[in-house]
Amino acid sequence: MEDMKDIQWFPGHMAKTRRMITKSLPLVDAVAELLDARLPLSSRNPEFDRLTRRKPRLVILNKADMADPQLTQQWVEYYQKRGAVVITADSKSGKGVKNFAPALRRLLAPQLAQYAAKGMKGRPIRVMILGIPNVGKSSLINRLAGGKRAKAEDRAGVTRTQQWIKIDGGVELLDTPGVLWPKLDDQEVACRLAFTGAVRDEILDLEGLAAKLLAFLHSNYPQMLEARYRIAPDAEGNGFALLEMLAKNRGMLLSGGIPNTERAAIALMDEYRAAKLGRITLEKPSSVPQTGTNDGENSENPNGAH
Ligand code: G4P
Repeated sequence: MEDMKDIQWFPGHMAKTRRMITKSLPLVDAVAELLDARLPLSSRNPEFDRLTRRKPRLVILNKADMADPQLTQQWVEYYQKRGAVVITADSKSGKGVKNFAPALRRLLAPQLAQYAAKGMKGRPIRVMILGIPNVGKSSLINRLAGGKRAKAEDRAGVTRTQQWIKIDGGVELLDTPGVLWPKLDDQEVACRLAFTGAVRDEILDLEGLAAKLLAFLHSNYPQMLEARYRIAPDAEGNGFALLEMLAKNRGMLLSGGIPNTERAAIALMDEYRAAKLGRITLEKPSSVPQTGTNDGENSENPNGAH
């Protein structure tokens, strides 16, 4: 797997990705948009709707094993209301992946009925998987394909010949996923992506990031902070103060008893990313802005259904 540090989203790369999608779109019946269930809004590509036009859309909330189950359910309903068929998956263990083909058949029921009426009953459904780096595209394709796929390829745009992989349920997958760029121009979005490790750490202020994450957890998942770091739910102070508490409670001290906030930040980020604190979701459907910043999600219905 290549990760974010190998993919720099210069306009050239974006243009290449756009071309790949535009070229592949006429070949597929549907697009499968892979989102991170921990951040189902920020892990969307800002141009997804425009890029895929009105292709029927299957939304896969991946990494559901790491996300808050209650909020995942709310996000399923959120995207269903916008015309998508939605499934949740853990592509690492394979949980939920078996729902992929049946969900596609549900999504494409009208088209399948038309094919059947024309006597094209055995026609395969063709689909392309799209998502930002690290969201689990290769893992999902490998799970769906079993041993039928050679090597995971993950780069901006596509350079080699694309092939179709037959999976169960009469579905054929484009073997190379479309790697889309994340929405990095919004600071809050970039921060949430960084929490999950989707943005490389070298370019980040890790202590600042950890302080922000702690402040979020303190407001939204206080019991988890208490259980793991003995930070009381009624503890007062900003994110940095919480980071100092964490350092002290973990015995991470510099000479003179000064809390080693750098070590504490590294520990927190590692443990959060490994889901050691529990199942956490960083975004709620109820806090989605109603207009403007949501890329037309509220105004546009991806499948034209009402
Ligand atoms: P990509 O093609 O979209 O870039 O993502 P990829 O499949 O390479 O997955 C990125 C990382 O996320 C991998 O972890 C992968 O195992 C993990 N992952 C993918 N889907 C899921 C999921 O549903 N749940 C969980 N918990 N993890 C998932 P890695 O650290 O790079 O490798 P490794 O941990 O597999 O060794």
